[in-house]
Amino acid sequence: MRRTRLWVGVWLAVGFGATGMAYWQGPSVSTGVTDDPSLEQVRREVKMLDDLYKTAVVLITQSYVEEDSDVPAGTAAKKLFEAMKQKGWHEVRLIDATGKPIDDVNSPQQGFETRALAALQKGSTFFEEVERVKEKRYLRAATPIPVVLDKCIMCHEHYKSFKEEGKIIGMLGYTVPIP
Ligand code: HEC
Repeated sequence: MRRTRLWVGVWLAVGFGATGMAYWQGPSVSTGVTDDPSLEQVRREVKMLDDLYKTAVVLITQSYVEEDSDVPAGTAAKKLFEAMKQKGWHEVRLIDATGKPIDDVNSPQQGFETRALAALQKGSTFFEEVERVKEKRYLRAATPIPVVLDKCIMCHEHYKSFKEEGKIIGMLGYTVPIP
């Protein structure tokens, strides 16, 4: 089966030049889960970034944060997000889900962030919307932050009850350009 498809592909490529090639490449796209490969790629990028950032925050907290006067991993993460934004890659926001943020700038902003929060509080693990700004498209996505470590409660005392009730205390909000 594979062999036949390959030969058909080669035949098309030889017979029709560039048009034939494009046709041959068609099936590899249509076997995917979406008819929008750029969007699918960006969605994958967000999931990779989410694992990367969350793993880093947990590792930093476990390894370097001993007292409440130590630099919190969240503060370090925000500096990292700022650097990635300055370099033109993407934007990430650390957002509060408890109504009592340490810093008010971390409160959810009306619109995408409040819609995402409502969905994640109901149990979704990934909320997304595609936003158009002029000619460009952006994937806006949000993922939940639970109380991952008891150490989190050292600085955020009110997380204790959220942990006991299994509720999320925050989310990461991504804005990533779709090529
Ligand atoms: C050493 C103290 C400390 C620890 C430990 C800590 N945080 Fe924070 N956290 C902060 C500070 C300070 C801010 C405000 C940072 C800012 O906006 O610059 C913050 C901000 C946040 C925010 C944004 C909402 C807000 O309150 O402003 C979330 C969400 C958050 N932390 C989650 C966590 C999680 C999850 C853990 C455990 C992995 C954790 N924090 C551990 C001190 C801490």
